[in-house]
Amino acid sequence: MAESDKAGSDAPDGQAGGGREFIRVARSGQVPEGWVRRFYAGEVELCVARLRGKVYATTNYCSHLDCLLSAGKLVDDGIGCSCHGSVFDLETGEAVYPPATEPIRTFPVQETSGEIFVGIAPGDAGRSGPRRRPRVAGPGAS
Ligand code: FES
Repeated sequence: MAESDKAGSDAPDGQAGGGREFIRVARSGQVPEGWVRRFYAGEVELCVARLRGKVYATTNYCSHLDCLLSAGKLVDDGIGCSCHGSVFDLETGEAVYPPATEPIRTFPVQETSGEIFVGIAPGDAGRSGPRRRPRVAGPGAS
């Protein structure tokens, strides 16, 4: 069948466009329907969720004030942040409910043979962490 042939050509653990590599992050059973969990793809910290049967992967940091999205809950519209109630579309990362206004990063997911793979591009590790960094004491600080 053409459809299964096409799926088979998207071999996990392979290179995709732009140097993106699909990395195994979990077994399918570790992300049941309606669950949100934290996993890592190399150095990239991810929020991985299953909503209406489909698995999604986003950065684990809310674009509002960096709360962990893996501590949030799934709602009809996507992933809800547990800190102040922002909701993000899991497909696009768009903030669909305030106070967040900026989108979160999303990553392509492949689920095959009971395993979940997330596509990570070069440089994703440096762009997927918290936006706010710990304060470093400046000159004159004691
Ligand atoms: S940190 Fe997520 S809504 Fe404020």
